[in-house]
Amino acid sequence: MTITDDLATRLTHRHADLLVLSANVVTPAGIERLDIACLGGRIVALGELRGRWTGDNTLEASGLHVLPGIIDTQVHFREPGLTHKETLEAGTRGAVLGGVTGIFEMPNTTPLTLTPADLQAKLDLAQGRAWCDHAFYIGGSAVNAERLAELENLPGCAGVKVFMGSSFGDLLSDDDAVLQRILRHGKRRMAVHAEDETRLRERRALVEASGDVCDHPHWRDPESALLATQRIVAMAGEIGRRLHVLHVSSADEMAYLAHHKRRVSVEVTPHHLTLCAPECYQRLGSLAQMNPPVRDESHRQALWQAIRDGVVDVIGSDHAPHTRQGKAHPYPDSPSGMTGVQTLVPIMLDHVHKGRLSLQRLADLTSAGPARLFGIEGKGRIALGYDADLTLVDLNAERRISDAWIASVSGWTPYHNEAVTGWPVATVVRGQTVVRDETLVGCSPQGQPMAFCEVTPTQA
Ligand code: DOR
Repeated sequence: MTITDDLATRLTHRHADLLVLSANVVTPAGIERLDIACLGGRIVALGELRGRWTGDNTLEASGLHVLPGIIDTQVHFREPGLTHKETLEAGTRGAVLGGVTGIFEMPNTTPLTLTPADLQAKLDLAQGRAWCDHAFYIGGSAVNAERLAELENLPGCAGVKVFMGSSFGDLLSDDDAVLQRILRHGKRRMAVHAEDETRLRERRALVEASGDVCDHPHWRDPESALLATQRIVAMAGEIGRRLHVLHVSSADEMAYLAHHKRRVSVEVTPHHLTLCAPECYQRLGSLAQMNPPVRDESHRQALWQAIRDGVVDVIGSDHAPHTRQGKAHPYPDSPSGMTGVQTLVPIMLDHVHKGRLSLQRLADLTSAGPARLFGIEGKGRIALGYDADLTLVDLNAERRISDAWIASVSGWTPYHNEAVTGWPVATVVRGQTVVRDETLVGCSPQGQPMAFCEVTPTQA
């Protein structure tokens, strides 16, 4: 009997691999009380299934909500090269413990992800070590610009990412001619870190002089972000390329981007929605240092307004771990970045609890939105035939986030000791329960590369 025959037999006999029972399910139509049958990694039945279906495993989900598996579109898992900060194993373990079922990983590793061999090396490292599904960004730079149309179509590639402003690692493309070459070679939505390198260099003296991390958002000011965003949006518009602006941090950019939504999508991070200057720098020091910076309350409010107005398409954590020793270097030599993949869901559920957004909107920003924008095959909704990626959450659970809970090699979170309401309790990746009762239960990491609908066969 082939595997397919076995699945067909199970389907006929209504016997699932996993039954999720009595859940409040976030579907495209609204929140409905449903049972979910998962078979062969996919959702095969939805509705009143108790007594009608049997299953090898069941998850009693009464009182819980089930979101389509959360996809974190921006993480730095540092492998290869920087495994003292993070690994694919620990990073994805943190992801599933935090209710995340899929991730897009960034190319500023060592070596940078610039070639087919670099991408393949990451896919190989993830095989048998990644707890969730994954895809890797290729870095766009002067050295590979002409190959990007081929590179972005490779299996397991999330697309092309460009750093216009230097942040961490050696991946910088700030020159107009290079940016145009990159934009011209490829069709997929291109992701960009938009900070203006010239302005950052001019203004660095400010923080060299003060050595005060509270000046981080003044050095890398809203103008630095706006200038770069305007430049790349204009260039992409002329060339006819779709764009994805990562971690938008300022009111100024949101006002501008609201007029460019036809071709440009917008990502924000939970950090920029939650932390606030100057308080976070006074309290956390360089642990709160990231690029682009966390800004003051007026910017934070503008990001929330942009969520309400529909300008924001996606929430990605920008999980960017650094060691505590690294962070202890005197500012501005301390590296920028904070962990975030494991706290994305708890922090955003707490915002839901406080009435800042609905659970339905959160599902769109963290699952349906990424799937829609990037054309991820079979993900982003709880519907028949889709992958059985499920994030089960208890909206009433009161928990305290702690460093001890964080799986990241770096071992810390900017939310240490924060109390939140709403918590991920179980994570299902393609029908396999990986986390149950807040505990890792999957016997081995079975994450797979994601597939993309947009990818066309390479035209060399
Ligand atoms: O703060 C940041 N850290 N921003 C980035 O764009 C890169 C990241 C990192 O890799 O550490």
